[in-house]
Amino acid sequence: MKFGYFDDLQREYVITTPRTPYPWINYLGSQDFFGLISNTAGGYSFYQDARLRRLTRYRYNNVPLDDGGRYFYVNDGGDCWSPSFKPMNKELSHYECRHGLGYSKIQGARGGLQVQQLFFVPLFFTGEVTQVKLKNETDQPKSISLFSCVEFCLWDAHDDMTNFQRNLSIGEVEVEGSAIYHKTEYRERRNHYAFFSVNSELAGYDTDRESFLGMYNGFEGPEVVLQGVATNSMASGWSPIASQHIKVELGPGEEKSYIFILGYVENAKDEKWDRTFQATGPVPINKTKAYKMMAEFATDAQVEEAWTKLQLHWDRLLGKFQIQTGDEKLDRMVNIWNPYQCMVTFNMSRSASYFESGIGRGMGFRDSNQDLLGFVHQVPARARQRILDIASTQFEDGSAYHQYQPLTKKGNNAIGSGFNDDPLWLIVGTAAYIKESGDFGILDEEVPFDSDPNNTASLFEHLRRSFYHVIKHRGPHGLPLIGRADWNDCLNLNCFSEEPGESFQTSGPSEGAVAESVFIAGLFVYAAPDFIELCRRRNLPQEANAAQSHLETMIETVLDHGYDGKWFLRAYDATGQKIGSKECTEGKIYIEPQGFCVMAGIGLETGEAREALDSVAAHLETEHGIVLHTPAYSRYYPELGEISSYPPGYKENGGIFCHNNPWVMLAETVLGRGERAFELYRKICPAYREDISELHRLEPYVYAQMIAGRDAPHFGQAKNSWLTGTAAWNYVAISQGILGVRPDYDGLIIDPCIPPAWSGYTAEREFRGARYHIRVTNPNQVSKGVERILVDGKEIVGNKLPLFSDGGTHEVHVVMG
Ligand code: BGC
Ligand code: NOJ
Repeated sequence: MKFGYFDDLQREYVITTPRTPYPWINYLGSQDFFGLISNTAGGYSFYQDARLRRLTRYRYNNVPLDDGGRYFYVNDGGDCWSPSFKPMNKELSHYECRHGLGYSKIQGARGGLQVQQLFFVPLFFTGEVTQVKLKNETDQPKSISLFSCVEFCLWDAHDDMTNFQRNLSIGEVEVEGSAIYHKTEYRERRNHYAFFSVNSELAGYDTDRESFLGMYNGFEGPEVVLQGVATNSMASGWSPIASQHIKVELGPGEEKSYIFILGYVENAKDEKWDRTFQATGPVPINKTKAYKMMAEFATDAQVEEAWTKLQLHWDRLLGKFQIQTGDEKLDRMVNIWNPYQCMVTFNMSRSASYFESGIGRGMGFRDSNQDLLGFVHQVPARARQRILDIASTQFEDGSAYHQYQPLTKKGNNAIGSGFNDDPLWLIVGTAAYIKESGDFGILDEEVPFDSDPNNTASLFEHLRRSFYHVIKHRGPHGLPLIGRADWNDCLNLNCFSEEPGESFQTSGPSEGAVAESVFIAGLFVYAAPDFIELCRRRNLPQEANAAQSHLETMIETVLDHGYDGKWFLRAYDATGQKIGSKECTEGKIYIEPQGFCVMAGIGLETGEAREALDSVAAHLETEHGIVLHTPAYSRYYPELGEISSYPPGYKENGGIFCHNNPWVMLAETVLGRGERAFELYRKICPAYREDISELHRLEPYVYAQMIAGRDAPHFGQAKNSWLTGTAAWNYVAISQGILGVRPDYDGLIIDPCIPPAWSGYTAEREFRGARYHIRVTNPNQVSKGVERILVDGKEIVGNKLPLFSDGGTHEVHVVMG
């Protein structure tokens, strides 16, 4: 069952009922200012950091779900309703939500009045613009009252939800003209305020929540809306809001439009206050920048121009890679939605979604490095900055904070460190950036350790520390020590927690001398060739040779101690027992080492690689994707940690963890099995699951972190959409593995691995200042193998397209065979 449809031409998902199985959301904002918006206008906005600069309040885990957002109310002759359906929940004669790239349009109609709301954050603008158009579709005049409502958060979203003894006394606002200014804590150390404005005269306003709603009402029944009159309340403490009341007269067929702005302003210390103020009384805040922002969006023409620019911005970003395969689901994922989600994960890491509260997690060290993989071709310069930011939080010994806060860019101690895979992802992320951009110069950048500007080293030195962190932390079998955990945050082999509620990620010793990870070994073997190549290119042959011998030793170690007969082992625990082995009663086989070891090429010649992937198909694969391990753990094992804390089939305990499914797809392409790779791709790909939306539950246009595994009662149901490494890895799997368009240090490699039934496909790829028009034909119906390539009519040697960097377009014909 579907709840909408894809409009590929508009690049929108069109939701046709407000009653989706869960709020289906979208993101507004490109850089710095962001908003989350659901299909019923729920959500919130923030500047840079969802925890530390939250503009509007949102109650996660609320009942009913998703109450609170940027709301508009209509009082049409006593009939009160919301054009986004929520919060008033009045039936609409027409409802439609179009989630597009960086904007959402929500339309609702009732009683002959049609209201269209366009929400977006213009490029380079620190605010959210909402255009509300009201149209009288009857042949009688209408007198309507339109009310707006946003509720301010007192900036630090965590403190806002906990520190009521202080916070209920500090709220402050100013009202001037049609704008409401939220200035809590501006009197002291803050240099920023928010405002909510509209380009129209007001009939009244409210800035105090209780006066607007009434003490015992929720957003579904504000007294002011029901009465049809604003109270001009001035918030003093309690809960500041911004609500405008506009009286709208509409002749038959007439349409009127209003522009609301939720803006964020920062003023320098000596510019905080209005210097022109002569009268007595409190000095008003300096509103100069707010006026400027309002002037930028005072007319519909300005709104439309900015919205068009946003579309052009996305044309450019998406234009970097476009395909035509004849499979519309595949095309829409690769051309529109997957890169869009990659941008969102790049911007948000794991901080703010409908499953991440914005207060728990900032930017993940491993997460952001992986997000880069799917994003880097869009804006390489931003990826570059991100790499430097991430590396700046690394410790001198190569280890890393697990996360850092985007606003301060400093490591977040509360989330911990000691995840021994973290350092390697920096090599993976940096290599991907250099392959895309050719910018080897990034390696010479001086980068701090632990954000200390007085303790710096080149980025290359950071990578060296990453590499040797693994080498210096090996266990009894010579495999990497796992530390607190590796990619699987929940496999906590040194934690032994018996304390309810204790964090598995920060408690217990950060490292034991025995517990080892085969996954980290696979990741090491995957990342090492790039480190070695970078050494060579820096003219460090001895260093390259030393690293090469570490690489070879690691491969042997994995084959000697990390293979279990038919698949790769997962780990050795703190007492040296095998994990992910046929000897185990539960958790006999895990997905991660199968994917990564084969991606790294381990056991390719000797058969282990093929055998491992066949074991994945035999034991882990289901109709909804590949589960993380099997059998799921049926009880809590302190020696395994959080993984066994989940009921079977959920999350890391045997859920279909979508993030590592693409590792197996990529591994299948290493083996040349394109049919298998694409079959696995389709199983978790949202567009292919659209028809089972009632089961899948979450947005059919973006990946979720997890689909409940076969041991769970809700097998096939997704959770945790949007912020997941799944976005980047699936993008890599389809674009680089299956379609085979893969950036390399000196050119673009074309190496498709497709289902043999495909007759080919076409693609356009922008790469290092040139556009490649690629036509792949598959006359012999093979899965892999390139017989010849013609570039601008001339045959080239090998399958790496030359660099042109001439701003021109080049015709590429790839014949498989
Ligand atoms: C989740 C993991 C996540 C970790 C982060 C755990 O509860 O299951 O997916 O990586 O928290 O701290
Ligand atoms: C989500 C975390 O963000 C990511 O870092 C981790 O690798 C996975 N969960 C698996 O535990």
